[in-house]
Amino acid sequence: MRVPFIDLKTQYSEVQATVEASFAEILSSGAYVLGRFNKELEEDLAKRHKVKHGIAVNSGTDALRIMMQAAGIGPGDEVIVPTFTFVATVEVVVQIGATPVFADIDAATFCLDPEAVRKAITPKTKAILPVHLYGQLADVKAFEAIAKEHGLLVFEDGAQAVLSHHEGTYTGAWGSASALSFYVTKNLGAAGDGGLILTNDDEVARRSRSLRIHGMGRERYYYDEIGYTSRMPELQAAFLCAKLARLDDWNARRAAVAATYLNELAGLPIHLPVTSPGNHHTWHQFSVRTPDRDALMAHLKEREIDSAIYYPVPLHLHEPYAHFGHGKGSLPVTEEVSDQVLCLPIHQNLADDQVAWVVESIRSFATAKV
Ligand SMILES: Cc1ncc(COP(=O)(O)O)c(C=O)c1O
Repeated sequence: MRVPFIDLKTQYSEVQATVEASFAEILSSGAYVLGRFNKELEEDLAKRHKVKHGIAVNSGTDALRIMMQAAGIGPGDEVIVPTFTFVATVEVVVQIGATPVFADIDAATFCLDPEAVRKAITPKTKAILPVHLYGQLADVKAFEAIAKEHGLLVFEDGAQAVLSHHEGTYTGAWGSASALSFYVTKNLGAAGDGGLILTNDDEVARRSRSLRIHGMGRERYYYDEIGYTSRMPELQAAFLCAKLARLDDWNARRAAVAATYLNELAGLPIHLPVTSPGNHHTWHQFSVRTPDRDALMAHLKEREIDSAIYYPVPLHLHEPYAHFGHGKGSLPVTEEVSDQVLCLPIHQNLADDQVAWVVESIRSFATAKV
């Protein structure tokens, strides 16, 4: 039985009528930028995350870059980051002229390890940028405490964590700001690229709104600073609004699939994902870990089950970023996890028999190994 990693066609069929009506309205109105759908998306997401401001931008990468720049991070500043993440987390730090300082991850959650962060602090450290990997929050309370102790800022890479929270406090409310991504494959996926900044900080919000339009100030064609072209097209905002209305149901289905995997795979000689106490996980990915990762992937492929490796090579081992780090062996947990991790299909369009087929296939692999 074929089990795809994602099913965008079925996903779209659920919102098609709404999207087509919104597109017709936008296209005939001529209101192509910063119209009512941008406003609706920003307000709805800010409300759902219980924060004051939502600022829609062109991508998650832009959200990261703009929010940090809006908070004053720049040349001479060090930002502590993980390297077990998508490239954008580190790329933006370099792009705003700051220096990324790499720290290892926690072996259970694969998110930035607070103890490793403590060790990486220098007099130049200005901020910590944890990534809420796979849909669960990193150890936000520990980072809040470290930041307070050392006078640092915390930014959240919430690209994979729309609607994730810890004890009811959502991404966006833990630090200065959080960056969401709406890349196609995300839980809330655009028809292309999109992102959004969540923040409770009025000044970060004001500057972010300015930076997304070339640094334009309160008046048209008067500039406060050097910015970007990063408005979200109105068509994209409308597409996302239609999907946002379905997101709670879709996330509930992801949670049900995750619960089945966790129950049915328990006890096998394979590491299952760990949810930290107090975390509400939104299951962007369901990652298992085994030293036989490549064999497991091949076994699943034989059975027409898609799987994916996020991320096969950590960023400190990529040529453009190598000089910021200390080479192979410098982040042992990150490197071991990269060699062993495998993400299974988890999305709202999986049928029960497809989930059962994944379970059966992993069981047959694990028992053959014992
Ligand atoms: C952890 C992480 N950070 C940042 C990004 C960048 O987001 P985008 O692709 O929307 O620019 C992504 C998205 O892939 C991501 O997964």
